[in-house]
Amino acid sequence: MMDDSLLAAAENYAREHLSGKRHAHTLRVADTAERLAGIHNLDPGRARLAALLHDSAREMRKEDMLRLAGEKGIHANDLERERPMLLHGPVAAELAREDLGVEDDEVLDAVRAHTMGEPGMGPLALALYVADKIEPDRDQPGVETLRKLALKDLRKAAMVALDRSISHNEERGRPTHPRSYEALEWLEGRGGEHPGEHGV
Ligand SMILES: [Fe+2]
Ligand SMILES: [Fe+2]
Repeated sequence: MMDDSLLAAAENYAREHLSGKRHAHTLRVADTAERLAGIHNLDPGRARLAALLHDSAREMRKEDMLRLAGEKGIHANDLERERPMLLHGPVAAELAREDLGVEDDEVLDAVRAHTMGEPGMGPLALALYVADKIEPDRDQPGVETLRKLALKDLRKAAMVALDRSISHNEERGRPTHPRSYEALEWLEGRGGEHPGEHGV
């Protein structure tokens, strides 16, 4: 199902677009995502592909991020205009489609949702979101619990990880993207009201 030449192209793409440090992170996320996919009955190749591409726009200059987002029809809200790095997932997904010909919507959705989460995210997106948070170099408080949880339940692991990242922002007085609140509500199975706006 997964074409090895596409994986090789994605590996090259990550190497060409990222610093050594972030490239190494990307490879660790790829190994982690692939392993999680194996455990949870997902396609390891597709998980690896999404992971290889997830941060490919992460080192783009802010001006370029905003310009590319505009060109590709990605709507940037106020928070994203202020912090263009929040757009690195959606921009990376568009680049993967255009530069590498990736057409697998679940792979593209996973890349798109990896930073802030997304209500309705699919299993591949959950695997990537969690892999990004538990790759072997991560050492944030609670990561060991998260690693264990990820072996059993990806959705719960994503919920815990997202909840932590929102608390982390709140402790530092940093804004949380409305989509992260929406994603957490969805993961918790709550509907209805949330802070922030729709249509981002
Ligand atoms: Fe990222
Ligand atoms: Fe990452």
